[in-house]
Amino acid sequence: MGLFVVVILIAMAGQYSVSTLKLRDFNVPDVAMRGEAVWLNCSYDLERDKLYSIKWHKNNVEFYRYLPEDNPPGQKYELLGIYLDLDLCKEGNIYMSKTDVHSEGIYRCEVSTEAPFFRTVKREREMRIYVNPTSKPVIRGVKPQYFRGEVVNISCISAPSRPKAILKWWINDQEAPIEDLFRPPTTESLEGLFISELILKFRARPHHFKDGRMKLICEAIILQAHTLRSEEIHISSNSTMPRKTIFSDYDVENDGPTIIGGKSKYDVGDVVDVKCTASKSQPPAELHWYINDREAKPEYLLPLEQIVHGDGSVSTKLGLQFVVKHRHFQKHEMRLRCTATLSKVRKMSSEVQEAEISEQHMSDLHVDLDTGEVLNRSPGTCKMHQIARISTLLSFLILYAH
Ligand SMILES: *[C@@H]1O[C@H](CO)[C@@H](O)[C@H](O)[C@H]1NC(C)=O
Ligand SMILES: *[C@@H]1O[C@H](CO)[C@@H](O)[C@H](O)[C@H]1NC(C)=O
Ligand SMILES: *[C@@H]1O[C@H](CO)[C@@H](O)[C@H](O)[C@H]1NC(C)=O
Repeated sequence: MGLFVVVILIAMAGQYSVSTLKLRDFNVPDVAMRGEAVWLNCSYDLERDKLYSIKWHKNNVEFYRYLPEDNPPGQKYELLGIYLDLDLCKEGNIYMSKTDVHSEGIYRCEVSTEAPFFRTVKREREMRIYVNPTSKPVIRGVKPQYFRGEVVNISCISAPSRPKAILKWWINDQEAPIEDLFRPPTTESLEGLFISELILKFRARPHHFKDGRMKLICEAIILQAHTLRSEEIHISSNSTMPRKTIFSDYDVENDGPTIIGGKSKYDVGDVVDVKCTASKSQPPAELHWYINDREAKPEYLLPLEQIVHGDGSVSTKLGLQFVVKHRHFQKHEMRLRCTATLSKVRKMSSEVQEAEISEQHMSDLHVDLDTGEVLNRSPGTCKMHQIARISTLLSFLILYAH
């Protein structure tokens, strides 16, 4: 087997001196609330070059191009989720008069220059579309009173939102154990909103009650996330290729994750050992590695490293380590990149529901199979006299955490 010399070409920030073409301002909002109008801005510094075109793509499909030589210079192409107002668009700065869930995606601006250099720079960023829930999650099925040993079978349902809510159950301020939870599939409406449900099922035991009462709260957590991509590392398997550094024409986001490590040359059989580092955040960034646009296998990943800073924010690092094989190459090239997903946490709690415990044990009773009602077998020994009630504490807990 011939020795493959693998050259690692790392496009590094600040090394674009080969080209005079630079993106000056690139602005795609990470998040837009559904319906909101947005500007997508892309401007450039040409220096000595002459502009040929500015193109905007969403998920690799072109929807706008600006060619100074054309009449009119700005043109749009119909695309789902794109609502351009051409009258307001100015060169690379484009205006969307509204957004909907189809507007979500990765937006790329590409600026190219004329002869003789034909240079291209591009940058991309994801925009997500969010819809906040308009109400608190609701709890269904709580009975006013439970007997010892009786099955508590209740459900929490979130108001429609995007992204979907993650639900949690709290029994007397303690999070419910995972084995008592059942998660029916999330439903998605036609407008792209999600409704989550979490069922809590357990047998009522005295320890579930504090002074005879059980307090139940359901919490909806919405992680409003956006994903940033790192620069891409290109590794070539072609030993005859001139060993010259080729810079990616992707401009680098300054707040995106960075790749550290990596050698300038690899052979098949060598170990690639690189790390992806996200800027600090709270909650910690979620990192993913991609090899040729496919997510890296878990066995290629090193344990996640986290450094907690004084202000509570966390720096996250994820290592990628694997032996270079022929199959990692597509057309003699392998591309590596990582993504960091940063989230803002939005929490919303249900109203508090309370239930009481009856002194009576379940085995002293029998359940009417038709109505589900618990009946006393011997009414003469009935100790029950509590009045059933559900107290709804009007504590509107809307917490925002960052
Ligand atoms: C985007 O461009 C428009 C028009 O040039 C401008 O009004 C707006 O302030 C710009 N937005 C940002 C965030 O740069
Ligand atoms: C729990 O409640 C749901 C509906 O609320 C019902 O379909 C299900 O059979 C119940 N399960 C038990 C074990 O009681
Ligand atoms: C390797 O690169 C050289 C120069 O770019 C090219 O001529 C040659 O065909 C490539 N070899 C293979 C096997 O692709």
